[in-house]
Amino acid sequence: MIATAKAIAILALGAGYASAFSLSMSSALIVQNKGGGHGELGFQLAKNLSSNPKITSITILQDSACNDAKHPFASYASDIPNVKIVKADLADESMTAAMVQSLLGESYDYVWDNASKGAVGAGKAVVDCAKEWNSKLLTYVSSAGIYKPDNVFPMPETTAVKDIAGQVLYEQYAKENGLPFVSFRPQYIYGEKSNKWDYIDYFFDRLVRKEPVPIPSDGSQKVSLTNSADVASLLASVLNDEAAAVGQTYFNCGTDQLLTYDKVALMCAEVAGVDANIHHFDPALGKAAFPFRMTDFYVSPDMAKSKLGWEGPKHNLKDDLAWYFESYKARGGMTKDLDLSKDKEVLAPSSV
Ligand SMILES: *[C@@H]1O[C@H](CO)[C@@H](O)[C@H](O)[C@H]1NC(C)=O
Ligand SMILES: *[C@@H]1O[C@H](CO)[C@@H](O)[C@H](O)[C@H]1NC(C)=O
Repeated sequence: MIATAKAIAILALGAGYASAFSLSMSSALIVQNKGGGHGELGFQLAKNLSSNPKITSITILQDSACNDAKHPFASYASDIPNVKIVKADLADESMTAAMVQSLLGESYDYVWDNASKGAVGAGKAVVDCAKEWNSKLLTYVSSAGIYKPDNVFPMPETTAVKDIAGQVLYEQYAKENGLPFVSFRPQYIYGEKSNKWDYIDYFFDRLVRKEPVPIPSDGSQKVSLTNSADVASLLASVLNDEAAAVGQTYFNCGTDQLLTYDKVALMCAEVAGVDANIHHFDPALGKAAFPFRMTDFYVSPDMAKSKLGWEGPKHNLKDDLAWYFESYKARGGMTKDLDLSKDKEVLAPSSV
């Protein structure tokens, strides 16, 4: 057993019988970005870990640039009351391991990092801390955006990566330091208490206004749109088999329910109670405001299922669109001013 793991053996003696059990305590640290992108992942992960018997305490090291009035940060106190929140300027490149340690005041058995890029500042500090703490696992939330696709879909974990990406530099630094390291590569994420809505809003914005929905090419390209709670479940699944996680190191991270771009538009139209006026456009005309890549770009979670025994997603977009549309309306989606001028570039006569 490593130095930081605390074990308590409790012996309970009753009348005529004795039972013994041992309770192993493990602390988790989640390093969370300011909320650009998908700030709700750390929140969803904390929620997930709260019900994992392996984890007995959770701390979020939160980038202090987050907006506390917004979700998910506004829900920290009500939804994850037992999670300790510590704030720091994670963008400060002079951040060192010693600074992080003095802020936190304790060591952690499991670390998830969804904030750091590159082997500088907080990124280097978190890796250095995990090493000093003798953490059992450092799990990094990278991104499928680092892939340079090779026309093989779903993209395997062996797909070539952009060598200058901050995420790749972080991965290299963690590996060089010999840490028990795992890296997940999520794709497009949506979820309750998110602060990023533009992927699916793109469809509703046009549908509710009876405007055409521009979609590149023939709309049969597939997308992996994953509920953030399912992404968190994938991130937490490293605890199912830590040795297998480290053995594989790299995991694609998304739902197994792939949808075509056209299907997403049709499902949104159904929920909004309107007809979908899909306009397929020639990608040579531009991208306009289309929120996804124009070509295929998707992964499958098969590796996480086979190596980590990931149970699969508990959510699917079709069902989620009901609450999503309510949230769209509550966020003022129906009445907000919308600039659709970019659409005009691709709504030109030469559609495919
Ligand atoms: C955290 O995860 C999201 C979702 O994949 C990703 O887009 C983002 O780059 C990650 N944040 C950092 C700073 O690594
Ligand atoms: C949390 O993650 C674990 C590991 O993947 C999963 O088995 C569990 O169902 C998740 N919990 C929730 C509430 O999604």
